Amino acid sequence: MAIGDFVKTADFKSEKHVPVVEVPAGVKKGEAFDVTVSIGKEIAHPNTTEHFIAWISLYFKPADGGVVSHLAKFDYMAHGESTKGANEGPAHTEPYSVAKIKLDEPGTLVAVSYCNIHGLWEGSAEVKF
Ligand code: FE2
Repeated sequence: MAIGDFVKTADFKSEKHVPVVEVPAGVKKGEAFDVTVSIGKEIAHPNTTEHFIAWISLYFKPADGGVVSHLAKFDYMAHGESTKGANEGPAHTEPYSVAKIKLDEPGTLVAVSYCNIHGLWEGSAEVKF
């Protein structure tokens, strides 16, 4: 068994857990750009004390087969927790983040996310110059 055996994927338009990786048009080699990673672009995922997206990590795999790079990790910490009880708190962090990155080679951006109930999910986007 390998960790990849536990990472699920699907079309984000029909499965609410799949991270969406958005790359702007016109990305150029060696120039910084913003990558957005999110869950729930089409179908909202619950954000409650009992059921939430805990984190998203963003990776880059060069097209030439080089070693993967871990670009960013986003932790989502607030899900309505409170001393008054579950879901009574005033704050929720939505699983939506932006990383500014710079690439010198084309390749694939892969986001892996973790739902505390439904496990690991991945989504990806190609980057070409
Ligand atoms: Fe879930």
